[in-house]
Amino acid sequence: MRSNDQVWGSRIGLILAMAGNSVGLGNFLRFPVQAVQNGGGVFIIPYLTCFLLMGLPLLWVEWSMGRFGGQYGAHASPFILQSIGKRRFWAYMGVFGIFTNIAVAAYYCYIESWTLSYAIHSLRGTFIHLDQKGVVAFFNQYLEFNTNFFGIPGEAIVLFVICLALNGFILSKGLRGVEMVAKIGMPLLIVFGIVLATKSVSIGTGAASTSFPEGNAWDGLNFLWTPEYDTLWRPKIWLAAAGQIFFTLSVGMGTIHCYASYLKSREDIALNASTAGFTNEFIEIILGSLIVVPLAAGYLGMDWVKENISFGVAFQTMPFLFHQWGVVLGSAAGVLWFGLLFFAGITSSLAMGTPWVSFMQDEFQWSQSKGALSFALLTLLLGLPCVLFYRYGVFDEFDYWAGTVSLVVFALAEVILFAWVWGMDKGWSEINKGAELRIPSGYKLIIKYVTPSLLLVVFIGALITPVDNNWIAAINSFLNGGGWALDHSSIISKLFQSALQEQLLLATEPQEIQWISKQLLYSNLSRFLLLGLFLMISWLVYKASKLPKNEY
Ligand code: TRP
Repeated sequence: MRSNDQVWGSRIGLILAMAGNSVGLGNFLRFPVQAVQNGGGVFIIPYLTCFLLMGLPLLWVEWSMGRFGGQYGAHASPFILQSIGKRRFWAYMGVFGIFTNIAVAAYYCYIESWTLSYAIHSLRGTFIHLDQKGVVAFFNQYLEFNTNFFGIPGEAIVLFVICLALNGFILSKGLRGVEMVAKIGMPLLIVFGIVLATKSVSIGTGAASTSFPEGNAWDGLNFLWTPEYDTLWRPKIWLAAAGQIFFTLSVGMGTIHCYASYLKSREDIALNASTAGFTNEFIEIILGSLIVVPLAAGYLGMDWVKENISFGVAFQTMPFLFHQWGVVLGSAAGVLWFGLLFFAGITSSLAMGTPWVSFMQDEFQWSQSKGALSFALLTLLLGLPCVLFYRYGVFDEFDYWAGTVSLVVFALAEVILFAWVWGMDKGWSEINKGAELRIPSGYKLIIKYVTPSLLLVVFIGALITPVDNNWIAAINSFLNGGGWALDHSSIISKLFQSALQEQLLLATEPQEIQWISKQLLYSNLSRFLLLGLFLMISWLVYKASKLPKNEY
């Protein structure tokens, strides 16, 4: 029985929803940080290479897998993958496609709730009279739950709950709800982005005065757009570029499988997927790099940016900078900026909710509302530790395992399934079925060989990253029998918490020891939660696989 026979209302709605899924906080907060930390202009080369050789091919692969599975009544990764791979194993592999979404939503919706709160505070003029330190202090107070929301204390928690309720409410309206939010949110986001980018860039050197002697917005642009080729071959930059491409396009997450499973069987993939992908890239590369970096460089100077850039700058520094434009313009810019982030965030978090809702509908005949409500509750349950124990690194732990590592693992599994288990001939004709755009035939080979090889390289590179990211030294040492010293950022070291363990060994002060032990405790707690979530979904897949409709 199929309880779930929704389809997308219109082509434009589909593209905007898919673009909304991709365009998120990653475009405005993660991209500029990655670009600055990885050499500025030089970053764009590996970034675009990864887009063309991994991102785009994975988009086509995921869209066509989703559309294919949808014909069999499967709308979430587990049974979409099984409909292609025909083995139970693939249904379990598909657990990733629900797991990642819920785990990421848990912390993603928290940041989304910050954007909502900050938009309201900008409107109310909270930041008008604060200096730079004051805005930072406000942020810290917020994280400590010491600010209130119209008189209700614990603002950070109140807004997190409101944000989840909002997501749940929209999800309960089904695809129609998602489509409507995308149709309103995406155009507004682009308009807000263009206004802010124009204003930020136009500061030029104009802010350089006694209060901001370092200010020069052009430095920011030059840094982002002038490649220095000598650092191009650092593997670290390539890993960062690949990670950014995954995160920003939302590939390797199962969200696209789900959205695409609601396509009609001959609906175009090549053109729609490419349009959604390029829209994301336009918003990321153009708007994502024209706001935070030039604005901050315009006032505080590029050296400040290089030293301080992190996603927190959006909240800790931007409101202060906006108020250099006066009370009215400053508040308006704050509303535009946090409003933009909010629309970017909510169109992505709604996408994270759909795989779970669809899965429960398909397999257990849950209603849309029950699915949406349970998603909000699950996210709340997993999100609260991120909120309450933010400073012990719960958030980072979630982001690392669910928002980074699992994407690469899942993407690798999918592309192997698609190109090797199913076979590239079938795969290629599936991608091109109903296509209004001819994908260059070279991509048949790219999808078969290049994409999986690159994914494997990225995965192995991250697994065994050598100390200081110095691969040449590591390989020499290895060949000379000196062993392979892992960097603390490698997956293996992360797994064994080697950075914290080392700090613990070196620590002498009781307070320090206590602090590190707490971090260890909370990161173990986070892993326990993530594992619990994974096992719970696997159990549901097991239950569902016993249903007659899923037997082959
Ligand atoms: N691509 C989004 C961004 O750039 C993030 C995102 C959307 C995501 N859907 C997801 C992350 C699903 C993990 C899982 O912000």
